[in-house]
Amino acid sequence: MQKKILVTGGAGYIGSHTVVELQNSGYEVVIIDDFSNSLPDSLKGIESITGKKPFFEQLDLCDAAGLKLFFNKHKNIAGCIHFAASKAVGESVNKPLHYYRNNLNSLMNLMECMIANGVEPLVFSSSCTVYGQPEKLPVTEDAPILKALAPYGNTKQICEEIIQDTITSGVKVKAIALRYFNPIGAHPSAKIGELPQGIPNNLVPYITQTAFGVRKELSVYGNDYNTPDGSCIRDYIHVVDLAKAHVIAISRLINGINKKPYEIFNLGTGNGYSVFEVIKAFEKASGKPLPHKVVPRREGDIEKIYADTKFANEELGWKAQLGIDDMMAHAWAWEQYYRKATHA
Ligand code: WQD
Repeated sequence: MQKKILVTGGAGYIGSHTVVELQNSGYEVVIIDDFSNSLPDSLKGIESITGKKPFFEQLDLCDAAGLKLFFNKHKNIAGCIHFAASKAVGESVNKPLHYYRNNLNSLMNLMECMIANGVEPLVFSSSCTVYGQPEKLPVTEDAPILKALAPYGNTKQICEEIIQDTITSGVKVKAIALRYFNPIGAHPSAKIGELPQGIPNNLVPYITQTAFGVRKELSVYGNDYNTPDGSCIRDYIHVVDLAKAHVIAISRLINGINKKPYEIFNLGTGNGYSVFEVIKAFEKASGKPLPHKVVPRREGDIEKIYADTKFANEELGWKAQLGIDDMMAHAWAWEQYYRKATHA
């Protein structure tokens, strides 16, 4: 009998790639998504890759009554992977109440339903943004949590505390928080990928849209940082590597091999790339020059961050396999497929 996993936000960027890897690993998947930052096409993309149609229900996790009904219908959920949240750093500065209400209530409603229905394993989508600008690099999981620069990052910090405090209260939940560094790229099939609504905040979708001609040129936010080429450094990780780590994490909890009721892992490659190095890697992958210009720094950007991946490598037996060239090639293939398929 296949174990059933609930994936909230499973039509989203990281969620859809995780659903593919869950199905490839023999899990049955049920998805809840409200399509606030995703499209139904992602569900078709998942099925076209795995040949398996995940059960789907359109639901806002802030609808507590609706979520209770969902859990009444699905009695045998073995574990939950929680992606559903608003995640644009800049937008969160302009809409703090939306971010606190959405990101905190959705987690609390989910955990209440899990506890009421005896569903214990929870994998939570967190972010390296909780570290702010770390004093020491590479950054380890026990690095101090610095004051978040934007409400988005603060919701991630508060959600991690909600999980910790709930588990400390003695209820039967066991959780793993995965702190992503910078997820980029797309499934090698080019059937699913990142679908930013409107003008992309993030670097790589802006690069691929510029290369396709959707945007005129990329603005590089500052070249006066204390880094070798002056641009910011990040730890970019392929979304498929990230997805695979989620399958390992939920399986770890379901099989009871977690060592503590709440574990936290960095998910990065351990390599830092500057903006200019990413541009160069993209030009190599696409075979075309990328129009770009340097503009002043973006408010809230940290200078450099990359992960110490030892804990995830040793405890989860997981290590990122794909490099920056694959990330660029797959991101570009997805952009071309998406624009041609949707004529957008
Ligand atoms: C990367 C680098 C920019 C756009 C955020 C969140 C993180 C996660 C990923 C959700 C920076 C530079 C960017 C552009 C640029 N989000 N840049 N021109 O800010 O590191 O991380 O998104 O889970 O939690 O904090 O990612 O892709 O926005 O920026 O020069 O048009 O690219 O200055 O140095 P970031 P990003």
